[in-house]
Amino acid sequence: MARVLVTGGAGFIGSHLVDRLMERGEEVIVVDDLSSGSLGNLSRWAGRPEFKFLRADLSEGVPDIGSVDAIYHLAADPEVRTGSADPGRHYRRNVLATFNVLEYARRSGARVLAFASTSTVYGEPSAIPTPEDYGPLMPISVYGATKLAAEAMISAYAYSYGFRAVIFRLANIVGSRSGHGVIYDFIGKLMSNPGELEVLGDGTQSKSYLHVDDCVDAMLIGADGSRDRVSIYNVGSEDRISVLDIARIVIEEMGLRGVKVRPVGGPEGRGWIGDVKVMQLDVSRIEGLGWRPRLGSEGAVRRATRELLGEGGASGRLGNHQRPRSS
Ligand SMILES: NC(=O)c1ccc[n+]([C@@H]2O[C@H](COP(=O)([O-])OP(=O)(O)OC[C@H]3O[C@@H](n4cnc5c(N)ncnc54)[C@H](O)[C@@H]3O)[C@@H](O)[C@H]2O)c1
Repeated sequence: MARVLVTGGAGFIGSHLVDRLMERGEEVIVVDDLSSGSLGNLSRWAGRPEFKFLRADLSEGVPDIGSVDAIYHLAADPEVRTGSADPGRHYRRNVLATFNVLEYARRSGARVLAFASTSTVYGEPSAIPTPEDYGPLMPISVYGATKLAAEAMISAYAYSYGFRAVIFRLANIVGSRSGHGVIYDFIGKLMSNPGELEVLGDGTQSKSYLHVDDCVDAMLIGADGSRDRVSIYNVGSEDRISVLDIARIVIEEMGLRGVKVRPVGGPEGRGWIGDVKVMQLDVSRIEGLGWRPRLGSEGAVRRATRELLGEGGASGRLGNHQRPRSS
């Protein structure tokens, strides 16, 4: 049994990762400040002796948890959209917090550090699907820049202090417990107003979407299977889907008819400052380790919509909004 630290383990992807680590018999310590995560995501493990939760803001340091064998570092502010309004917040939560986690990794004797990075480090690449060795990396969002800075520090620490680093550049991840992103937004808006759906940008933005179960599989396979001092893996589906198609799927799954879909434009047709309009990753490197996504973008979006609608009824995650009536 390994002792594993999961930062951000109360969040969307982190809590699914914790489920899988606990199911395979690891001892799991979660550090999370609950700024966007929730203890409800971890409730099935509360009281288990091999599970521990510590509430702490990693931008202020890592609490005293002794040594661990492996670290999965997922804690971050994941909202691309808000980065331009408050870059300092992204710097503290994504760069400073990573520095503190790396200082802990250096002291704790961890053998491997896995990191949730992002497709946004590529900026607007000319090669699509984009391979891991694409460059130069010129992010167009503050969020992407903070993640690229974190990648650079992780690489240097791995080489300087002798642990193995595994960096996952994730596409858009969707599924149950997600508290942000386009599907979550669309469901919330349609619950408030089932007659009209405002779409940020011109609606032609076209990106890769991956279900969280496929994402967690990739992270475990990559962390277990990589051998190099620093490995980088793209993680995404093998296709992409437009925002207007996502709107169609969400409307269908909610059983609504006659919804007026209204793209509101935005800078150069983007949804927000820093929005990359076309994103699809070349995932052949992680597929070389035996991973394959079970769902394509459309299947992932449809399944995630059903899961989030189920949670809206059961847990009230979408509870600020009225459930829609079919018409
Ligand atoms: N969801 C996606 O589509 C996506 C895509 C690419 C990369 N990522 C990355 O994956 C990771 C997880 O994202 P998510 O979608 O699950 O987001 P999330 O917001 O659900 O999870 C992030 C977690 O980190 C915690 N956290 C944030 N700042 C912290 C701090 N300073 N100290 C302690 N805890 C802190 C939050 O409370 C939350 O539980 C993030 O690093 C994100 O950047 C996500």
